[in-house]
Amino acid sequence: MTRVFSGIKPTGHLTLGNYLGAMRQWAAVDQHQADALFCIVDLHGMTVDHDPARLRRLTRQAATLLLAAGLDPELCTVFVQSHVDEHTRLSYLMECVATDGEMRRMIQYKEKVASEAVRGRSVRLSLLTYPALMAADILAYGADEVPVGDDQAQHVELTRDLAVRFNQRYGHTFVVPKATVPKVAARVMNLQDPMSKMGKSDDSGPGVVYLLDEPEVIRKKIMRAVTDSGQEVVYDREEQPGVANLLEILAACTGGNPESLATVHDSYGALKRATADAVLDVLGPVQARHKELCVDPGYVEEVLRHGAEKARAIARPIVDTAYRAIGLLPPGAFAEDAVAQPAVNAAR
Ligand code: TRP
Repeated sequence: MTRVFSGIKPTGHLTLGNYLGAMRQWAAVDQHQADALFCIVDLHGMTVDHDPARLRRLTRQAATLLLAAGLDPELCTVFVQSHVDEHTRLSYLMECVATDGEMRRMIQYKEKVASEAVRGRSVRLSLLTYPALMAADILAYGADEVPVGDDQAQHVELTRDLAVRFNQRYGHTFVVPKATVPKVAARVMNLQDPMSKMGKSDDSGPGVVYLLDEPEVIRKKIMRAVTDSGQEVVYDREEQPGVANLLEILAACTGGNPESLATVHDSYGALKRATADAVLDVLGPVQARHKELCVDPGYVEEVLRHGAEKARAIARPIVDTAYRAIGLLPPGAFAEDAVAQPAVNAAR
């Protein structure tokens, strides 16, 4: 069975973009069709300035929301990255296989460095080495497929390069994974700035629908979405990005397609009302389930404990193999090597 691995970073409250672009596909498709692991990648949440209490809170919330969105611990593995040591164990090996130039070429890194530089600030070293950890996340599980948005495609590409290089140098160890674009996923843009994606880390309130926003707040944000100069509802991503975004959200929530929905709604107001209704229909059950889960934190705790155990059982032998392949002496294997190489000079 195909193994799928994906991760979500607890750096902000999860958004409609996370839900329609990833979580929903994981719940509706991946967990049923594949041996799927979903990881709350908390270590990745520390590559930029972070508040410890907030990181902890967002990690709990992300776990609860993943279950609320329909991930079923009977079908897939849900766990927290820092609960499984293999990620950091393997990350170091990845740093020994990658070059600094490769890391510096990553678009996300370059953009962040540039924006911090204008303020005279430097970035954390972990921001540079982040793709090594991400590669470790994926390779430690022998994942075949990694469903991610296009902003992560470059990191998965690098993961492939590192896997191939490691295998060539040290013997076949890793499955070479590939990025997949989720089939039912929508690319949700910021309601106030439809040229940029609805990201959780930007925290630019009015343009971002958070999964746990109150229903009235969600409706208000959608009703106040920027539209374009024009009157007619047409689906044109280039010329009318605001309207196109609403149409895509509506399509993603109702299962329709944006082109034909454009012909159904004859004013921006009607389109916004329909979109708000559709979003609330989709998020209502998620919010209700989230509320139930919050009453029973012991259950979520247990899911994460069991998830980490299952994850460890997969990752441990793969990472151990990599340690041995790269030349690290396994504990307990001293005598084994000594017998194989009796001569003093043979150890050079
Ligand atoms: N870098 C991803 C993001 O920012 C999160 C992530 C970390 C990830 N490790 C991963 C995604 C492994 C897929 C597989 O969204």
